[in-house]
Amino acid sequence: MELTLNEKKLLVALGPMGSADAAVLAEKMDTRREAVVQYANLAGDRGLVDVEKHVARRYVPTEEGRAYIGRGLPERQVLESFEESIPMRDLQGHPLAKIAIGWMRKKGWIAIRDGVVQKSGNTAPGPDEAAFARLAEKGEIADGEGVADLAKRGLVQEEETVAYTVSITPRGRELLSQGLDLREEAGTLTREQILSGEWKSLPLRRYDVTKLPKRAYPGKVHPYQRIIDEMRGILFDMGFEEMSGGIVQSSFWNFDALFQPQDHPAREMQDTFFLGERRPLPAGYERVRDMHEHGGGTSSTGWGGTWSAEKAEQCVLRTHTTSLSIQHLAAHPKPPVRAFCIGRVYRREAIDPTHLAEFEQLEGIVMDEDVNLRHLLGFLKEFYAKMGFEKVRFRPGYFPYTEPSVEPEVYVDGLGWVELGGSGIFRQEVTEPFGIEHPVLAWGLGISRVAMLRLGLRDLRQLYRSDVEWVRETPTYGGRR
Ligand code: PHE
Repeated sequence: MELTLNEKKLLVALGPMGSADAAVLAEKMDTRREAVVQYANLAGDRGLVDVEKHVARRYVPTEEGRAYIGRGLPERQVLESFEESIPMRDLQGHPLAKIAIGWMRKKGWIAIRDGVVQKSGNTAPGPDEAAFARLAEKGEIADGEGVADLAKRGLVQEEETVAYTVSITPRGRELLSQGLDLREEAGTLTREQILSGEWKSLPLRRYDVTKLPKRAYPGKVHPYQRIIDEMRGILFDMGFEEMSGGIVQSSFWNFDALFQPQDHPAREMQDTFFLGERRPLPAGYERVRDMHEHGGGTSSTGWGGTWSAEKAEQCVLRTHTTSLSIQHLAAHPKPPVRAFCIGRVYRREAIDPTHLAEFEQLEGIVMDEDVNLRHLLGFLKEFYAKMGFEKVRFRPGYFPYTEPSVEPEVYVDGLGWVELGGSGIFRQEVTEPFGIEHPVLAWGLGISRVAMLRLGLRDLRQLYRSDVEWVRETPTYGGRR
């Protein structure tokens, strides 16, 4: 059996005595007692020594207790300050009178009559004084008669001491008798030791290759961000470019440009976060206005009524990333366009495990000559398949800005069909005011739900919590990629 240097040193120190207190060994080995206990426990596991732990309770004086040491308890001191009797008023002049008089009466040492204090026949010390005398002599006492009284009075306090006795086992003794090499072990070899061949005779430190190292937690991308990055990768692979834009949008871009009527319920205060800020309308906004009011000379009749520029200037926290799609199209009205973005959107929702007031959407648009619904369904199917959802189906839906409108759903084992967003082909009421002449396929998918499914979460809020433990424990390549 190979012994570590510390084990050898322990056996050598312990050998002559056979059994010793860890503190004594520490002195012999010129180290700390805690270190000896640690070596001894390890050596104990290997059967070289036995370690016995003793817990001892003892009592030491409190600060108040220390003040009486050598002088006696207050009642004794005060009792001894007068002969047979003393007027109460005089006695009260003693600095300890306040504490002592009560105790002297309680112990039956005095009687008070007509303002005079008279000693009684029996003033012998009780067990508490005996215990206190022992304490004065030794500085500490074990539990015993009278000690509890002193503790109750706050004159002594309990202290726990732990002692360790280490004894050599027959196995340890046997190894000791074979002679132990006490040279320091080499942890790393120097170039010189290797060249000279000295390494062959050096005692080498052993490595336990079966021991697991401490777990390390290097920097790590948040699991949700990883899924977002994966989605971006998929869309880049599918030939899309990334759009970007601000979180604060005018109602014009968030609603009006998407042919959402100004009295649409989604534009109410209870659904949308409106901001105090206003933004000027873009050049050419009149065409959007005309489309709303009467159809702008197209086959549409518009929504009718009067369109309010003031309402359109009002800023909101974007309620969907479709507000970026329409701006991107306004800036690039000519085909081909293939763009996406992943961004946070805001809605005034009652918060529960599957609904939050902020979440991420993955928005995409494809504009080209003659693209149609089959292409749209194809794009969505392909995207979901790449995300690991094999079964996708489409249900008819409704959005004010698309016709037809489709709601994609994916099938998840154990959950069934899960709705993941909306899509459709932009209506001419949306495209015409911006001079867009070709069909635009569009979709907006809630991706926090996708992340939740992929990460096996029950509560969407987990994605947004600062839960380092969860981030650590979530495998980097969980799921399929
Ligand atoms: N904007 C819609 C939503 O937030 C999704 C959508 C985008 C629908 C594009 C159709 C076209 O639910």
